[in-house]
Amino acid sequence: MLRNEEIKTSSDTSNMHQNFQIVNHGIPGTVLDDMLDGVLRFHEQDTEIKKEFYSRDVTKGVYYNTNFDLYVTPALKWRDTLSCVMAPHPLDPHKLPTVCRDITIEYCEYVKKVGTNLFELLSEALGLNYNYLKDIDCAEGLFLLSHYSPPCPQPELTFGASSHYDSSFITVLLQDQLGGLQVFHQNQWVDVTPVPGALVVNLGNMMQLITNDKFLSVKHRVLAHKIGPRVSVASFFRQHLPPENSRIYGPIRELLTPDNPPVYKETSVKDLVLHHNGKGLDGTSALGPFRL
Ligand code: OGA
Ligand code: NI
Repeated sequence: MLRNEEIKTSSDTSNMHQNFQIVNHGIPGTVLDDMLDGVLRFHEQDTEIKKEFYSRDVTKGVYYNTNFDLYVTPALKWRDTLSCVMAPHPLDPHKLPTVCRDITIEYCEYVKKVGTNLFELLSEALGLNYNYLKDIDCAEGLFLLSHYSPPCPQPELTFGASSHYDSSFITVLLQDQLGGLQVFHQNQWVDVTPVPGALVVNLGNMMQLITNDKFLSVKHRVLAHKIGPRVSVASFFRQHLPPENSRIYGPIRELLTPDNPPVYKETSVKDLVLHHNGKGLDGTSALGPFRL
């Protein structure tokens, strides 16, 4: 796990790590590998079996589709996704596909602990009590996206994921060793090279909103590949759509001063997610309408 000093605490946000990789996070390598294998097994089943899970109803606990933003996106991404709402309410395990059920539950137990640790460290990096972000329920919701990108004959014409910001507080990302993930840093796209056993952490839009731009969410994308498949698992720490969230979030009062007045309105995660989903992955931040 990264140490506290490794997260910049400076008030200068220009150098803030919006994206970093962690090792020694406590999840055994076998669990990481088994989770990626489970995702592969799910996606490589017969269409007839996967059909049972196919849905675009985001209020379902478990659903499988391609391009959540299919009807609004300017361009299609070369990727299918199994989405599972794992927390705050425990999911009925029988809703999960049999081929990846046990490992998904096990992985999520571990990833929740990693998330809790990260929220403690990030609270301290903000100069707050280490319980602060947990106490405002940032670690409560867990939305798991298990992605699969088949080999792509013309990768230059599409993306695994086009440029976007995550709607979460933070996202803990497990990727295989194929690569393709990039972050936008100092005006250019930079590869996030896979490190065996490491997890990638992205700061998301909700984190940017509650920290009043002290922690910025990271713009990122995934290139498509001729070889493949590529699999990845994104654990979004945020609550999901109704009936799960009513809590209102705004810039944390303790971080505000006369020189640093709030730059965002108060909002619910639901409103941010609905706006994010409604516009699709168009490269812009979902925070626009929430700015004062
Ligand atoms: C995401 C995402 C990256 C990846 O799910 O939001 O950015 O490598 N995923 O799959
Ligand atoms: Ni993302």
